[in-house]
Amino acid sequence: MKEAGKILARIMDQLERSVKPGKMTQELDRLAAAEILKAGVRSAFKGYKGYPANICVSVNEEVVHGIPGRRKLIEGDIASIDIGIEMAGFFVDMAKTFPVGRVAAQKQELIDVTRESLEKAISKIRPGFKLFDISAAVQGHVEPRGFSVVRDFVGHGIGRQLHEEPQIPNFGSAGSGPALKDGMVLCVEPMINAGTWEVEILQDGWTAVTADRKPSAHFEHTVAICNGEPLVLTR
Ligand code: MF3
Ligand code: CO
Repeated sequence: MKEAGKILARIMDQLERSVKPGKMTQELDRLAAAEILKAGVRSAFKGYKGYPANICVSVNEEVVHGIPGRRKLIEGDIASIDIGIEMAGFFVDMAKTFPVGRVAAQKQELIDVTRESLEKAISKIRPGFKLFDISAAVQGHVEPRGFSVVRDFVGHGIGRQLHEEPQIPNFGSAGSGPALKDGMVLCVEPMINAGTWEVEILQDGWTAVTADRKPSAHFEHTVAICNGEPLVLTR
């Protein structure tokens, strides 16, 4: 999983270089397909419950599961890229949100706070903490800054399957939940909205958007607990 995580992080770096005004989101998907092929791995998303693409690209008010298509990125957008791969029977999963050119200060702050909330959460992924310490770390960083935590989607365990137990909400009570132990591998993925936490699913059956159409950001890492420490596999 360490090796798969490094490969995935490299693919994400390649995709980041193509996030610019004028790019169609399906061009990012095509690039991802090429990089996945070149690395000799497999998209974990394509075909998952019928999902039609290699990656998810969620722009502005799109929260998660945006299907790449003919939408062109424009200056001032924020674009979240979510990508998972399978290698030798093991899965890894990550997401990042990027500004497209120069963006409004509030959008940049949303990106920064979401990324920081993931880092705060990662610091709790070690023996001695409980599962919902992770959740509380995200919520405790985000809500005092005026942003909201999406309720309808959660992080997850990962390994031989993309989604394993436990579910990891981005809100919850510190000090509660199952104890964290060496050998666990968890995907923590804060989905943070500028306005209301409520989301809707579009007609395509996949794309989740904010109910108030204000922007949303998403970061995700696959993190193993290894020798008593959090080891971020997708860095
Ligand atoms: N990173 C997301 C998840 O873990 C994306 C999966 S959606 C998919 O849950 F359907 F496209 F696979
Ligand atoms: Co995930």
